[in-house]
Amino acid sequence: MANPTGSTLSHLECTACGRTFDADALHRLCPECGKVLYPRYDLASVALRPSDLVSRTPSMWRYREVLPVRDAEHVVSLGEGFTPLLSAPRLSAALGIADVRIKDEAQNPTGSFKARGMSAAVSRARELGAKTVAAPSAGNAGGALAAYAARAGLAAGVVMPEDCPRINQVEAVVSGAGTWLVDGLIDDAGRLVRTTSEARGWFDVSTLKEPYRVEGKKTLGYELAEQLGWELPDVVIYPTGGGTGLVGMWKAFAEMTELGWIGEQRPRMVVVQAEGCAPIVRAHDQGERHAPRWEDATTEASGLRVPVAVGDYLVLDAVRDSGGTAVSVSEDEMREATRELAASEGIYPAPEGAATLAALRRLRDSGEVGDSERVVLFNTGAGQKYPDFMPAAPEVVPADSPAWNSGL
Ligand SMILES: Cc1ncc(COP(=O)(O)O)c(C=O)c1O
Repeated sequence: MANPTGSTLSHLECTACGRTFDADALHRLCPECGKVLYPRYDLASVALRPSDLVSRTPSMWRYREVLPVRDAEHVVSLGEGFTPLLSAPRLSAALGIADVRIKDEAQNPTGSFKARGMSAAVSRARELGAKTVAAPSAGNAGGALAAYAARAGLAAGVVMPEDCPRINQVEAVVSGAGTWLVDGLIDDAGRLVRTTSEARGWFDVSTLKEPYRVEGKKTLGYELAEQLGWELPDVVIYPTGGGTGLVGMWKAFAEMTELGWIGEQRPRMVVVQAEGCAPIVRAHDQGERHAPRWEDATTEASGLRVPVAVGDYLVLDAVRDSGGTAVSVSEDEMREATRELAASEGIYPAPEGAATLAALRRLRDSGEVGDSERVVLFNTGAGQKYPDFMPAAPEVVPADSPAWNSGL
């Protein structure tokens, strides 16, 4: 190996039946029971200590010992991760909550947190010999896959719902991915990707249906701990479609405890979904471990228009084990929260990110989040990628206009 990363990846383990598999062969779901496979590491052999991180590159690859890529030559990076954890003092004061922070994932390459998962999955797919990678996407994942495949020199196929944000369609096309739109939802796109991949020998990197996107997303959890001085917040609010980021963080917390980097304390993990597509919220409220498909899913927060999640049991387990909860919010609440976050803190969020603030309002009103708590909201993408979500019609003034009543 030209340049070993020091990855301690040891094997893949099924999250449902517990069977183990060779990590150095291309795998998707558990070949025995069809559930999600997690990469496991020989954590006892990790020599890295938190204090060593200070001198490392500010990207998610700073945690390379607990990431799956073995040879640094295969790391496909555009500088993803190590996004700022921004304090939000005006928002905290307005909400009457001691410490509200925003993990601003809009600052990733391709403008969303999807960059993390795709960096890990494309790197590992290339390392294991894949030539073409493909995925269904609600929008942002398609743009990210196209960009990372281009960076890796691999071919890519992306299938998205035809009403996903136009910028996601454009970014996939411009980055050279074969791009198709389907008259349906992301699970319809997923079926097309699966059958086409089987027929053409593409490697299907649908989230949680291959083992490595979650590894990129888990770095959210490592960063949260590092940026808070190896403590975790009281509450994490996460906009949940497939839930990969949430279960990734949950996995990271367990790994860090085993590494001795943090203690046993965990944040309460809060799922937020849109009222028009809330399968995880419904299953949580009904005490179920699986979330049946949500029919007629509608929401302009395209990343939340995910009617069924392959990792539903992992999300629901994490929420319950953490003492967290699941809430759904309306489109109007997302709009209001978008305005509030942008105007009070200068952070223009994706609708999905805005949903986390709308959820926090509800939880504060119901007393489920107290005034002395530290809360982290995940802004998973850039508002700029959704130009039609927020109405804005600035006044046009003639170029030779004298001073006018600006209204400020
Ligand atoms: C901006 C944004 N936020 C949140 C999500 C949901 O992510 P996850 O599948 O990890 O729940 C998506 C997924 O497309 C997204 O694009």
